Amino acid sequence: MRLRQHVNPTQVHFARFRGARPVLDGRAIEIEVGCADAQFLFERAASDPARQYVGLEIREDLVAQVNRRARSHRLPVQAVFCQAQLHMTEILPPGSVDRVYINFPDPWFKRRHHARRMVDAALADGIAVVARLGAEVFVQSDVWDIALDAMATFERDERFVNLAGEWTFWRAGNPYGVRSWREQNAEATGLPIWRIRYRRR
Ligand SMILES: C[S@@+](CC[C@H](N)C(=O)[O-])C[C@H]1O[C@@H](n2cnc3c(N)ncnc32)[C@H](O)[C@@H]1O
Repeated sequence: MRLRQHVNPTQVHFARFRGARPVLDGRAIEIEVGCADAQFLFERAASDPARQYVGLEIREDLVAQVNRRARSHRLPVQAVFCQAQLHMTEILPPGSVDRVYINFPDPWFKRRHHARRMVDAALADGIAVVARLGAEVFVQSDVWDIALDAMATFERDERFVNLAGEWTFWRAGNPYGVRSWREQNAEATGLPIWRIRYRRR
């Protein structure tokens, strides 16, 4: 299947939520914002199938692909077609999420595409609403500017506390034992990876 490489999240086409809400059954919930093929969530689900995993993704064809794979492998992964900055609170109940992953939220790293970046105050606000108190938020990127921007976003929001100390990157690596496709690629090509880790106050 031919998949679109990038879509512009500011298009009016994405303004209204048209995806299907995930079926939640009371188990702990982990979400990945911009999950693409959900490689990371599939690996999490294989290592801890007692939880539920929800991927938020703006490319509709990828969402369908992830959900087909989840059904055929009977894994507790569900992808939802959405514009995550706008629709987070329409998809998930308040205080319901235990962990939020934002893995390599590019590709909009050029200055002129700043408005298309995924991690902004609106996304942080949505996360603050759906995350339970004490929930973790983990962001990683191989683009310095994107990682710094993401840090500034969470530092400015009093509802999050930086687990490495104010304005400090998380230097102890990825603590979750699984890697996204982009992460594997960055490591294989020797790119530096910038990570931040927050807790919902
Ligand atoms: C560079 S890819 C990284 C994919 C995966 N997280 C990984 O690490 O391999 C970023 C993903 O975020 C998605 N995305 C970008 N903006 C989004 C938005 N506003 N809402 C939901 N998904 C978005 C893109 O379609 C893309 O699949």
